Amino acid sequence: MQGRMPLNMQEPASGIEQDHVELFHEIHYFQESLQAGHGVSTVGRAIHWLFTKLPGHFQAEEEIMRAGGYPLADSHRNSHQEILQVLESVVKTFEKEGATRGVCQKTASLIDLVHRHTHNEDQAMDQFFTKKSRKGN
Ligand SMILES: [Fe+2]
Ligand SMILES: [Fe+2]
Repeated sequence: MQGRMPLNMQEPASGIEQDHVELFHEIHYFQESLQAGHGVSTVGRAIHWLFTKLPGHFQAEEEIMRAGGYPLADSHRNSHQEILQVLESVVKTFEKEGATRGVCQKTASLIDLVHRHTHNEDQAMDQFFTKKSRKGN
């Protein structure tokens, strides 16, 4: 998978774009190791990245949506909440079980969810702000 998703939301978005680059890198790393049968050795790293990065990343996107009057902000925020709930469940299971195959599968599902969200909803948000900035407001 080629990881870079362009985001053109100007200044405050540069951190968001950087997060997406890192996210795709982490996704790729975990999926490769999963396919090679080494998921249990990398799942802790994937969970740690998601746990430390996602909440702040989502907050930054929500701030941009709010400040920019993005019309789909509510449903986008709901998707963030849904992802964070799944993340919380993955973290709890990881704390209880450690790096099991079950945790790898749960993490893979979570990563699919985050991946789809980034490709669909974040992309739609990016297009909105790109159009808006071309119009000059
Ligand atoms: Fe995002
Ligand atoms: Fe998002």
